Amino acid sequence: MVEVEAKHILHSGIFHPVLRQWQSPNVEITVNALMYPIFISDEQEAKEPIASMPGVYRYGINHLERMLQPLVLKGLQSILLFGVSKHLEKDHIGSNADSTQNPIIQAVPLIRKWFPNLLIACDVCLCAYTVHGHCGILNEDGSINNKASIERISEIALAYAKAGAQIVAPSDMMDGRISAIKKKLATAGLMNKVAILSYAVKFASGFYGPFRDASQSAPKFGDRKCYQLPPGSNGLAARAAARDVSEGADMLIVKPGLPYLDVVRHTKDAHPEYPMFVYQVSGEYAMLYHGAQNGAINLENVLKEVLLSMRRAGADCIITYFTPLILDMLQPRSKY
Ligand code: PBG
Repeated sequence: MVEVEAKHILHSGIFHPVLRQWQSPNVEITVNALMYPIFISDEQEAKEPIASMPGVYRYGINHLERMLQPLVLKGLQSILLFGVSKHLEKDHIGSNADSTQNPIIQAVPLIRKWFPNLLIACDVCLCAYTVHGHCGILNEDGSINNKASIERISEIALAYAKAGAQIVAPSDMMDGRISAIKKKLATAGLMNKVAILSYAVKFASGFYGPFRDASQSAPKFGDRKCYQLPPGSNGLAARAAARDVSEGADMLIVKPGLPYLDVVRHTKDAHPEYPMFVYQVSGEYAMLYHGAQNGAINLENVLKEVLLSMRRAGADCIITYFTPLILDMLQPRSKY
């Protein structure tokens, strides 16, 4: 038998829960480190289950207050809104992304009124409102028209800000959109009322599949590889974050989460002054959900481990569809 020298014994530091906590300084899950993504449908009465994301729904405006109330009581602090258009007409410039019929434009003032302390972020993108399902405006030949795209994206961001969003989160990945949005907000005098949460480092990922079903925003042709980052690209990830920082982003997102935690760590280390967000995307949600459903893992235990890994990698806030469950797990006398 190999003898372990006394000075090499690590178990002496972890035999009590408090000792273990001390070994994980600042790596914990708290309510203010959570942002809850919500799909809001243009069908006011809808509470429609999303087949690819069991337990997640598209809510019509008439369900929102009832759905949010218990979560706010459990400590929910911030939400990220996505509009879904079932009936609104789609066109080449995403006209309904900021029309008066848009579910986000309609819901934000109501949520502000119902829950004045809840911080509201709105995802800003064209894909749910364009006929082709791409995140920008296209040229005749199907390529991205970057200039027209960032003009349109910044208009939409401004409209959400005017509706009362305190955070706009552009997820389109067009070059120069942070600058364009910042200029629009400044001109409108909204600079100190609205923060920009940039999807700075967004990879072209297979993990978005269930989301595209949820928001009915799958591209009708081609893919998003010319504006989302290749999974192996450390260098582009670093440049994308640095660029958005230089254009004036207030906060940064890396997305997806679990397969890219090394990128979260690099980005946090490169920009320690910026709040770092990680998005546990739809495919990550579905993977954990189905893994647990099929008996392979215990959902709460594995979820806790994944969330701690994200915090350990440097995430200050985690955007996750599991927020309602996590809030339950964090309650003082919770069974978890
Ligand atoms: C839209 C957008 C996507 C997601 C957030 N905003 C899909 C995509 O870019 O293809 C994915 C979120 C998720 O999978 O949970 N631009």
